[in-house]
Amino acid sequence: MKLLVTGGAGFIGSAFLRMAIAETDWRVVNLDKLTYAGNLENLAEIERHERYRLVEGDIGDEALVESLLSGEKPDALVHFAAESHVDRSILSPEPVVRTNVNGTFTLLEAARRNRLARFVHVSTDEVYGSLEAPREADESFPLNPSSPYSASKAASDLLARSYFLTWGLPVVITRASNNYGPCQFPEKLIPLMIANALEDRPLPVYGDGMQVRDWLYVEDHCRGILEVLRKGREGEIYNIGGNRSLPNLEVVRQVLALAGKPESLIRYVTDRPGHDRRYALSSEKLMRETGWRPVMDFETGLARTIAWYRANSAWVARVRSGEYRAYYEKNYDPARWCAERRP
Ligand code: NAD
Ligand code: DAU
Repeated sequence: MKLLVTGGAGFIGSAFLRMAIAETDWRVVNLDKLTYAGNLENLAEIERHERYRLVEGDIGDEALVESLLSGEKPDALVHFAAESHVDRSILSPEPVVRTNVNGTFTLLEAARRNRLARFVHVSTDEVYGSLEAPREADESFPLNPSSPYSASKAASDLLARSYFLTWGLPVVITRASNNYGPCQFPEKLIPLMIANALEDRPLPVYGDGMQVRDWLYVEDHCRGILEVLRKGREGEIYNIGGNRSLPNLEVVRQVLALAGKPESLIRYVTDRPGHDRRYALSSEKLMRETGWRPVMDFETGLARTIAWYRANSAWVARVRSGEYRAYYEKNYDPARWCAERRP
């Protein structure tokens, strides 16, 4: 089996590649543009492996994508590459649409021309939008995205599905909830809170902090994708949730408690525009069809993640230099910090 993976230098893609090399005998080619979010340090343990190869490039580069599909002749493609951060999609939506929509289109076209046997499109629960409690989204739930990021993912999901319905391209779509774990870029809630807490910096909580997310340990997500790759039915969608819904404020408090830091580090800041209040996902279909279930409990996963960030302060320091500083200043400008909105 030969696999083409896109975005394999990112947080989830790198965890998937480490798992695929360790647990299968597949050959894997990783197509990654190495944006700010792509980090080859995440792949250090497999970079010299004989079954692994990196191709640095853009999924929107038609000639490159065509040459990879026609030259490498992969048996399957797992498509992780994306601009993945909601706040960045609000500050600057253009790269998000270019990669998530146009880039996915380029991959689908090449897959169709080359009669690819399996196309796993990695998507998100954000496409379902905000849900009132106690509702949970199953795969038939209507799409109702709020941010440029989630709208771009919904658009690419629909494009991918259209290639199955129109040309029979064997597409399978996964929609996962919020991931956490080692190697996550410290712009997302959990790694940002951990990195700030460990350096005694303020922890910015948007709005009242009562927004609810469902937390999925990254390795549980990757195992779910492996199951879908092996057993998922063509044209189907599979939700992959962590079955652990928590308000952000509780997550932040747990981070502080586990890191041994005071709650006085919490700062309530101006809310994210269009902020979805609650995500909730049913993974019943994936569990029923493959036997998969999330095995990591949140407290253990969070403690393990904090331990990783503690042990990898040099990784955090390297990631936080350069481009990150400009982003942080823009997203968390002083006006935002002034707003006190305690629940
Ligand atoms: P990430 O931002 O950590 O990594 C994205 C990777 O894609 C990086 O290596 C980057 O260099 C690469 N990339 C970006 N644009 C590219 C382009 N044009 N061509 C080639 N490579 C490009 O993202 P992540 O958190 O690992 O998410 C991976 C996928 O999973 C995304 O599709 C995301 O929408 C989806 N997802 C993420 C979460 C989550 O909680 N992080 C949850 C559900 C679904
Ligand atoms: O639900 C899956 C999605 O989860 C993925 O598709 C996205 O790629 C991923 O980025 C993530 O999106 P969220 O917007 O839910 O994740 P984020 O970590 O940015 O925010 C989680 C919650 O925490 C959200 O309610 C906003 C809040 N938040 C976030 C940051 C960065 C804060 O309160 N303060 C912060 O500084």
